[in-house]
Amino acid sequence: MKRILTIVGARPQFIKAAAISHAIRDLYADKLTEDILHTGQHYDDRMSATFFKELDIPTPRYNLGVGSGAHGHQTALMLSGIEEVLQQKRYDGVLVYGDTNSTLAGALAAVKMQVPVYHVEAGLRSFRMSMPEEVNRVLTDQVSTLLFVPTEKAVKNLEREGFGKDRIVCCGDVMLDNVMHYAALLPQPEAVTPPTILATIHRDFNTDSPERLTNILSGLNEAAEALGAQVVLPLHPRTRNRIDSMATNPLGGHIRTIEPLSYLETLAALRNARLVMTDSGGLQKEAFFSRRPCAVLRAETEWSEIVDCGAAILTDDDPQRIVQAAKQLWTLHPAEPTQFGDGHAAERIVGTIAGR
Ligand code: UD1
Repeated sequence: MKRILTIVGARPQFIKAAAISHAIRDLYADKLTEDILHTGQHYDDRMSATFFKELDIPTPRYNLGVGSGAHGHQTALMLSGIEEVLQQKRYDGVLVYGDTNSTLAGALAAVKMQVPVYHVEAGLRSFRMSMPEEVNRVLTDQVSTLLFVPTEKAVKNLEREGFGKDRIVCCGDVMLDNVMHYAALLPQPEAVTPPTILATIHRDFNTDSPERLTNILSGLNEAAEALGAQVVLPLHPRTRNRIDSMATNPLGGHIRTIEPLSYLETLAALRNARLVMTDSGGLQKEAFFSRRPCAVLRAETEWSEIVDCGAAILTDDDPQRIVQAAKQLWTLHPAEPTQFGDGHAAERIVGTIAGR
């Protein structure tokens, strides 16, 4: 029996980890046991507990409760807490997800203790090292024993950087597994009046610059006005804090802000929306998997497959480009996604780990 430590901390990681935990529980319970360590990077109920409940994720055995803070401080607290856990108990591997500070802390703590690191969603690149996520991805990949890669493009990224084929497992995207599984359980989409644009903004470079944030919000508002639509904007606490601290309210009359959504609420909102506008990597994919077009509120994306096939357009923070993209995408129905596997990524990942 192999004992695995899964490290999570931020909202998108709970979603990815759910698919893996279910595969362990349902298919490999005779070969693998899993303990979950929550770093505490996300801690509000709507950013954390809701996901564990809704997605039936096992209760974490450890919760470091590190909370928010500057990158170095936050990552250091995680590193030290994870190391302590790995000193107390022997694990045969550590599973980390994506590109957050929790990912990097988990990978670094494990590699220094000579515990194999398994990186789910490896090989992604935005080619912009000023993004903290890009630093986290590149460094985590470097120290990983096995790189579980969602797309062929990500395989190529790793091959270009000299990673050996023996470390790379192209398995598809666990987020597609989830969308396929949970979408079947959702009610039928409703016709909403006025039609909605689902939007999210949470990247530090968009929220922490009042100019960029104002540009984006005015682009969203203008796009909705031009299309006779309403923007529904679930607010990440970081974004809410920034908006609340601005001298004048940057939200136009065509934007309705709401609390952060749970996973199932997000899938339902996606199905009821005609268009998605976001700077989130996860929501870009979930939009594509739900066959909704997407304007990406960034200058580049690590999920370039979606842009390449025409289902998404990069707008950066330019209000005119945002409005233009919204008009262009409004009547588009993206084709079935074929670039992200077949919805059985988690089985492959867990099977590979169990077999080693
Ligand atoms: C983090 C990840 C990002 C990921 C995102 C998903 C890093 C560097 N960033 O960004 O890659 O896309 O999670 O949501 O790891 N806050 C709360 N309550 C919470 C959590 C956060 O109020 O439960 C507020 C705090 O003011 C905090 C801020 O949000 O300072 C930012 O949180 P943090 O976890 O540092 O980064 P995210 O922006 O969430």
